[in-house]
Amino acid sequence: MSHRSFSFYKRMVFILCLLPALLLLEGVLNDRLGSNPIEALVRQSGDWTLRFLFITLSISPLRKLTGQSYWIRLRRMLGLYTFFYASLHVSLYIGLDKFLYWDEIVEDIFERPFITIGLLSFLLLIPLAVTSTQKMIRRLGKNWLRLHRMIYLISITAVLHFYMMVKADTQEPWIYIFILTLLLAFRLPLPIKIPLPWRKGS
Ligand code: HEM
Repeated sequence: MSHRSFSFYKRMVFILCLLPALLLLEGVLNDRLGSNPIEALVRQSGDWTLRFLFITLSISPLRKLTGQSYWIRLRRMLGLYTFFYASLHVSLYIGLDKFLYWDEIVEDIFERPFITIGLLSFLLLIPLAVTSTQKMIRRLGKNWLRLHRMIYLISITAVLHFYMMVKADTQEPWIYIFILTLLLAFRLPLPIKIPLPWRKGS
């Protein structure tokens, strides 16, 4: 793919990734979020954080399966979008759900384990977002890779946050657990080489 057409696709992906946030905004403006709009906003932004986390984790498998390296050039943007949706989710919880009542927030952190785990996931995402620039990649060298492997731990704690939050119907968290297992299993070295007919030389 030429540099020009890749830049075009990258811009398209950038706009596409903004759509969930715009749809949430549209829901607010047109009063389309149901009887409890604050809960809907917190929950939907949480869903999108998890989805973007998984999309980011899919990049490596996609590169391996297709043999195309341009996927990797989308990874930083997708990772930053994960952080953007996580920040939105946390801000909506703090600003709208808790209305900046810090006592209640601290109480939640200590008394509701799913909030504690969510906070841990968010705090672990911060160093990854901060070190996502080319300058930091160069400066940290091999440590950059080590640090960014934390994404696997984050994905586990994020799914756990969702699982612990759900009280009765755990079907949706189980779907995420299943997808995450596949995404993580893909990282394991295979004892045999599976031929992929669409990949040259595989
Ligand atoms: C990477 C970080 C995080 C991810 C991926 C994430 C993801 C999610 C998901 C998927 C849901 C469930 C949405 C649904 O019901 O469909 C959720 C709900 C929620 N999360 Fe998070 N979350 C994260 C961090 C946090 C943090 C840091 C907090 C607060 C400090 C938080 C507070 C909440 C709350 C209050 C709910 C809704 C609970 C309810 O309505 O009963 N989350 N989150």
